[in-house]
Amino acid sequence: MTPSTDLQKPIIKTELPGPKGREIIAADEKYVTPSYPRPDYKLVAEKGYGVWLEDADGNIFLDCNAGVAVCSTGHCHPEIVKAISEQAATLIHMCGTDFYYKQMPDLGKKLNEIVPIAGDTKTHFANSGAEAVETALKLAMYHTRRQKFISFFGSFHGRTLGALSLTSSKRAQRLGFMRQALDVVHAPYPNWIRSPFAGVTDAESAAKATIDWIENTLFKTTTPPSEVAGIVVEAVQGEGGYIPAPPLFMTEIRRICDKHGIMMIVDEVQSGMGRTGKMFATEYYGVEPDIMCLAKALGSGLPIGACVAKSEIMDWHKGAHASTFGGNPVCIASALKTIELLQGGMIENAANIGEYLQNGLKNLMGKYDCIGDVRGLGLMIGVEFVEDKKTMKAAPELRDKVEMACFNRGLIILGCGTSTIRWSPPLILTKENVDVALEIFDEAIAASV
Ligand SMILES: Cc1ncc(COP(=O)(O)O)c(C=O)c1O
Repeated sequence: MTPSTDLQKPIIKTELPGPKGREIIAADEKYVTPSYPRPDYKLVAEKGYGVWLEDADGNIFLDCNAGVAVCSTGHCHPEIVKAISEQAATLIHMCGTDFYYKQMPDLGKKLNEIVPIAGDTKTHFANSGAEAVETALKLAMYHTRRQKFISFFGSFHGRTLGALSLTSSKRAQRLGFMRQALDVVHAPYPNWIRSPFAGVTDAESAAKATIDWIENTLFKTTTPPSEVAGIVVEAVQGEGGYIPAPPLFMTEIRRICDKHGIMMIVDEVQSGMGRTGKMFATEYYGVEPDIMCLAKALGSGLPIGACVAKSEIMDWHKGAHASTFGGNPVCIASALKTIELLQGGMIENAANIGEYLQNGLKNLMGKYDCIGDVRGLGLMIGVEFVEDKKTMKAAPELRDKVEMACFNRGLIILGCGTSTIRWSPPLILTKENVDVALEIFDEAIAASV
């Protein structure tokens, strides 16, 4: 495990953002695309160490977001920095699509050992989550010689045109881009609190309703199963609200895929790499995907994505798919060190501290009528804000106010879904950090209701 530093509490000493931060934001507004979905609060990061993040004006924040679930080993973990620096001094790039270097098979072998797929796997390397998903889509189409996909409302799989055809967590992601590039149909994700199906009272009945809809409506009308290449699912829906899949849902998807020769594609871009207290969230469900998508925390902040598939599925011809930078040796050095650190205690810490944090948040749910649900696995926890527990009506404005109030007190958290705050801190978080975070969260809610 790693040092957090001695720092115990955030230190806010200027207005937010401070003068230097405001200059950077002004330049950003002039020169950078306006399409980024930044929250209402404006954080201008300059330095990171462990769970702490310093802004351009020297304010210090407790980071419970980790660059959107990426810096799981903590900011600038010394061993990650060392691995990156050593590799950068030796070989930065040599285009693994045309030449060979040992890092690619090394990471492929390591992923083969850790993914929840029995038997041999092969890996295609990418630079991002969306690219890993694109790879999975192309591979499923190639292997099955089919073209249709099923994904779920609320899902997020990236913003490139293929991945965007699956993505459906927010209108803004689709608005302006007209027709889908791929033939994808969306089914309701089994979020029992907001199920569109009548008679849903819990996670299991929500799962049954969705499965029934796939088999008895989709398959019998628009989407014959013999034409479906893949079902793409997040084991814990991330951008859609940090909602763990009900166990029955994952086993039923596996059954349907087996029955019809459909690829089960599990997107663990956000839930993977120890975040949920196991290396992969899929391990909670006892199912084996055919294809898995990884990115985000895999490189501790360096851009690397991976599409891992059963070897017999990755049967495409030379030239079928490749990427100049994907699996760059520096990113792989970071990924190999990340996996070592995760296995060296951080996954266990995510499970233990995750339970501690979730219990603390559940206590706050008892205190505040505006918290309708606290859910999650390990250090992937969602807190859903509602108008009140009786109606359970989503309260997005209150969620945004709480998010801002946390920021002003030095706690970085980020919304997801309609009215959820996600907790995705570095996996090195300590109990002391949690106590500080919960105190701030409590104050922020009290000041916002
Ligand atoms: C589950 C999931 N898949 C794919 C992506 C896309 O990853 P990227 O932003 O690296 O393209 C994300 C990003 O949030 C994600 O959460």
